[in-house]
Amino acid sequence: MVKMAKTAANPSDERTIGIIGCGHLGRSLARGLIDSGFPKEGLLVSYGGSSATLEEIRKAGLHENLSDNLEICKRACIIFLAVRPQSFQTLGELSIPAGTLPVSCMAGVGTAALKRQLGIDCVRIMPSGPDTIASKKGIAAVFPKDDEVAALLSGMGLKVFSLSDEEMMHTFTAGVCLTAALLVARKNGLDIKPAVEAIEKDFPPFGEIYAWALDALPNLGSDEEEEKYINRMCTKGGITESIVQSLYSGSSLLGALENGIKRSKELSTGG
Ligand SMILES: NC(=O)c1ccc[n+]([C@@H]2O[C@H](COP(=O)([O-])OP(=O)(O)OC[C@H]3O[C@@H](n4cnc5c(N)ncnc54)[C@H](OP(=O)(O)O)[C@@H]3O)[C@@H](O)[C@H]2O)c1
Repeated sequence: MVKMAKTAANPSDERTIGIIGCGHLGRSLARGLIDSGFPKEGLLVSYGGSSATLEEIRKAGLHENLSDNLEICKRACIIFLAVRPQSFQTLGELSIPAGTLPVSCMAGVGTAALKRQLGIDCVRIMPSGPDTIASKKGIAAVFPKDDEVAALLSGMGLKVFSLSDEEMMHTFTAGVCLTAALLVARKNGLDIKPAVEAIEKDFPPFGEIYAWALDALPNLGSDEEEEKYINRMCTKGGITESIVQSLYSGSSLLGALENGIKRSKELSTGG
């Protein structure tokens, strides 16, 4: 259970967790938290106002948890930022009190940029896609190392990789896209091992991430189901989308993963 001290500087409630951006990933984190025993009434979620998202929030049974960013920042002790990287700048400063822990799920947005905008230190995580979280087969990178966040993610059934170098987030992010990438690569008849071995040279955990992806790969009955699965993993303008599109346009798996790493780096510089 999450414990954070309530102080004058931080009036937040230790039983409250916020999720700013209750989209695909945000909803799966909400479900993961509830399934791991976190009290549902302690969750506050927000979204950007689209009626389609509101419908999905209703379907997920989270409409009673709806709040707004201001209230979330006032009350939550941990705040997951699960908006798209492109929406982050439009969130403004957010006024997160000292002592509250913001946890960014946004691909590519580095800790320095987060601190510049939020005015407070932020932990970054990179979880695998919503389906893997739902099936308790997820993985997540955490940077910098944070025991509390790691415990929260482990409680949700995710295998945690604490990274010592933030640059490795880019490669890890391409790694969590592997389940979607493998579906397309297999269909295209591509050789997979050389790509994994090439990336493993610079980032040794990549072999383990590949083994995870093989295990987490769902057994989808039809092309339509595969397409839906891939779409759920693709954030618009994000890294999975870049990898999958590279594969669709004839790239090798290594080329596609390198494009994903490049896209992550672009996002980190505001691209
Ligand atoms: N999907 C994945 O597999 C995955 C895995 C790892 C990390 N990520 C990261 O997670 C983040 C979200 O990805 P996603 O695929 O879940 O995208 P998504 O489905 O588009 O979710 C983003 C959500 O943010 C909401 N939002 C936009 N502006 C907001 C605001 N001002 N206040 C509160 N909420 C706001 C959007 O609401 P509206 O729909 O109403 O605009 C939307 O529901 C991205 O940064 C991505 O890099 C995703």
